[in-house]
Amino acid sequence: MSTAMAFPDFFQFHLPVRIVFGKGLSKDFSAELSSLGVSRAFLVTEKFLHTLKIPDRIRQALESAGVGIAGVFDEVVPNSEVGLCERGAEAARKAGADCIVAIGGGSSIDTAKAINLLLSEGGKLLDYQGAQTLTRPLKPLVAVPTTSGTGSEATMVAVINDPDSQSKISLVDRYLTPALAVLDPELTLTLPRRITAATGMDALTHAVEAYVDIESSPFSDALAAQAMRLVARYLSKAVIDGGDVEVRSALQIASTMAGVAFNHSMVGVIHGMAHALGGMCHVVHGEANAMMLPLGMEYNLEVRERKFAEIARFLGLDIRGKSDRDAGLEGIAFVRQLNQELHDLAGLPTRLSDVGVSRDRLPEVAALAMTDGSMFYNPRDVAEEDVLAMLERAH
Ligand SMILES: [Fe+2]
Repeated sequence: MSTAMAFPDFFQFHLPVRIVFGKGLSKDFSAELSSLGVSRAFLVTEKFLHTLKIPDRIRQALESAGVGIAGVFDEVVPNSEVGLCERGAEAARKAGADCIVAIGGGSSIDTAKAINLLLSEGGKLLDYQGAQTLTRPLKPLVAVPTTSGTGSEATMVAVINDPDSQSKISLVDRYLTPALAVLDPELTLTLPRRITAATGMDALTHAVEAYVDIESSPFSDALAAQAMRLVARYLSKAVIDGGDVEVRSALQIASTMAGVAFNHSMVGVIHGMAHALGGMCHVVHGEANAMMLPLGMEYNLEVRERKFAEIARFLGLDIRGKSDRDAGLEGIAFVRQLNQELHDLAGLPTRLSDVGVSRDRLPEVAALAMTDGSMFYNPRDVAEEDVLAMLERAH
């Protein structure tokens, strides 16, 4: 067998979002805003962030750049629901907004994407389920993440809870991608330990899944690899000393890199299970991913041994002299050990039973996971009984 890398027959890489990074940047990003040509911003955020004065900080930055505030919608909650997005869009329309500014974690940015879609195009959110349903650009969306994990600031994906079907719906469209992502690690300095841990594991899961998925490419691989290196090296440090802006910078950059990576090669079986656990049992997204990550890696190992060996190296392990399979297994053991460390440091749950998932619901969770679009991109064909077995092992 040739030792040369096997390149895909075809790949593409397109990044419509302008990514800007700077410590303290969220106080003044007028130069970046001016190119958008907007004048009435509608802010989408979470009430909790007012206590940290973060929306005020962004409001001042917008106003000093000559962008007026059309309105503030601060009702975003973890796992935002369809009805909430529709209410937000109605408020944005009444306010005459010409752009949306998302401030917060993944839920804020995903909610803002859904609001922007409805503000620009009208109709009901469920009409836009699926992939590439839009035919023209939406209003500009600016994303200011306050966590490091989701990557949503750099992706075309929004995941919204649909209480009627007790599931998460995915909106995937290149026009949902923010026009501008403002990365300011200072906004993440006060993130609580458990959220730091969970969001960091979400970023790691994006990177691992992007790296092994069927649509991975040399471009997405490079970003996923660097994201893995940074998370492996800095996540525990960020939990221990959240006030260290260098460590926070590393995680924020890793999160966005992993976002760009999975925006191109998508996620797989681990996210399929995490979405079902979130939709049916309200398990926090990053925590669900953390619990399912080593099991999903084991599941995919047999079809991607070489890539899992490389993952072990990105995680900082010395794999010289080891077979690909053994190196891959060491990488998986590293992830288990990291989960345990984050459990000890931050109370990150390690079992589904710790977060209130009852065992008798697992067959339903497995069935729902099988309908998730992520499954399509997984490198190994996914069988429902295998998903159930992984969920049972995580219980
Ligand atoms: Fe995720």
